[in-house]
This record gives sequence, structure tokens and C-alpha cells, in this order.
Amino acid sequence: MGQTVVFANQKGGVGKTTSTVNIGAYMAATGRRVLLVDFDPQGNLSSSVGVRKQERGVYDVLIGNVSAEDVIVPTPQENMEILPSDLRLSGATVELAGVEGRDHYLKKVLKPLEGRYDYILIDCPPSLGILTINGFAAAQSVIVPLQCEFFALEGFLNMLFQTIKRIQSSLNPLLSVGGIIFTMYDSRTRLAQEVIQQVKKAFKTHPELLFKTVIPRNIRLSEAPSHGLPINMYDPGCVGARSYAALTEEVMKRV
Ligand SMILES: Nc1ncnc2c1ncn2[C@@H]1O[C@H](COP(=O)(O)OP(=O)(O)O)[C@@H](O)[C@H]1O
Ligand SMILES: [Mg+2]
Repeated sequence: MGQTVVFANQKGGVGKTTSTVNIGAYMAATGRRVLLVDFDPQGNLSSSVGVRKQERGVYDVLIGNVSAEDVIVPTPQENMEILPSDLRLSGATVELAGVEGRDHYLKKVLKPLEGRYDYILIDCPPSLGILTINGFAAAQSVIVPLQCEFFALEGFLNMLFQTIKRIQSSLNPLLSVGGIIFTMYDSRTRLAQEVIQQVKKAFKTHPELLFKTVIPRNIRLSEAPSHGLPINMYDPGCVGARSYAALTEEVMKRV
């Protein structure tokens, strides 16, 4: 049975998209069949694998115009495909608002694809709105990328984990927490170390929820998307690539 993993965090710029594409690429590089699902109207995941200005996207599948198979396209990484997105998806947040069963739309879209992939990875927009809720409802595990330079962490994490608990007790009892990824770590800043210490303290009864591999701040990781390539293809030797390779091994043991 394939595993569906959702990458979520209500804050933007924390490494959700970067983690989704690169973890997906390393999974695919070991022969796993991977589907990336871009569920952010910004479409950053799509453009980070060179998919731009396509005619159809996940929005067309949501509104029932086409099937997912018709919209899925290959990526530069062998064994990895993507269900792309575009700005029209933002309309779905309004269109789905009053609809019954609105939280299960993505789940329905992905249902016919089960069995075709070992991993389906969903990238969410920076909010806890209806798109992210759809992601939670469709997945078996949630991974939370967390930027290592961040104030007011505690209230923020509480809110996120309360939402996840609410989802578990209503929409999706099968959802488990895959873990927290520390991203953009800069060993020269004290704040980065403080953030890690603070999160470790907050999770001291569940230390297994923190991935051991920390992703450093690495310029190559930020360059790769504009070349439309995951980091294993853009610069496999860089420290960012090696970190995501190690992290992916951890993720595959966990989810
Ligand atoms: N470890 C990293 N080192 C350097 N730049 C990074 C790193 N991770 C992400 N970035 C860059 O930071 C920006 C935000 O990352 P992104 O993955 O798009 O965050 P999100 O999807 O949470 O909004 C992007 O420009 C990305 O290329
Ligand atoms: Mg993103």
C-alpha cells in the first residue's frame, strides 16, 4: 500500500516546498514510485520541477472536469510525477467553502491513484485553511518543516498541533504525525540553536517526532528551483543535497 504524506505549516517560507520536492526526488532515486501533488495556488512545487504554464492542473480535477491521470505530468526525476497547480486553485477555497464534504475533495481525487505510487507527497499553502485541511484529510502522515529562525514558536506549534488533533478526532483518525524537520539551520546564529532547544524541550516526551537530520541553510537549495531541478540533479554533492538524502532515509523509515 502506498503512503500519502502531507507537508504543512501555516507559515510561508519555512521549507515546505523545498522539502517536498527533494524528499520526493530522493525517494524516487531509490526506485520508489512518487507522485508530487502541488496543492498551493502559488504553484512553486510545479515550477521547481520545471512545470510551468500547463493547461490543466489539480483545480480541473477538483471541479470534476478531468481525471487526475489526464493532468499528471513527468518531472526531470525518473519515477517521479507531479499533479501540478496554478493560481486558479485559490478559487477553490471560495468555491468549496459551503459545499458538503468539502474537506474530502483531494482525498477523492487521489483515491483512483492508490496503488500506482509508493509515496504521494502533498505540498500545502501557508495557512490552515480549506486546502491544507483537504491535505490532512487525504494523508496518513503529516510532516512539519520548521524554519530554525523563528520567534514566538510555542503558540504557533500549539495551534498547529491542536488542528492536527482536531483532524485526527474528526476528519481523519488515520492521520499520524510523521515528524518535524528543522530547516534553514545556520550554525552561526544563536537563534537557530535556541529554536532547536526550545522545540526539543516542547517535545521531550516525544523526541521521536523530531527528525535527527537538520537541513542547513544552503544557497544551492535555493538556486535549484529556478533550474527546474531537484537538488539531487542540480548539485548532488552539496551539503543541502547530502542533508536531504539523509533526511529521506529517516522519512522512509517513519512513514
Ligand atoms: N535549506 C535552505 N537553504 C537555503 N534556502 C532555502 C532552504 N530551504 C528553502 N530555501 C529557500 O527559501 C524559500 C522558501 O522555501 P520554500 O520551500 O518555498 O518554503 P514554503 O514552501 O514553506 O513557503 C525559497 O526561496 C527556497 O528556495
Ligand atoms: Mg511552498
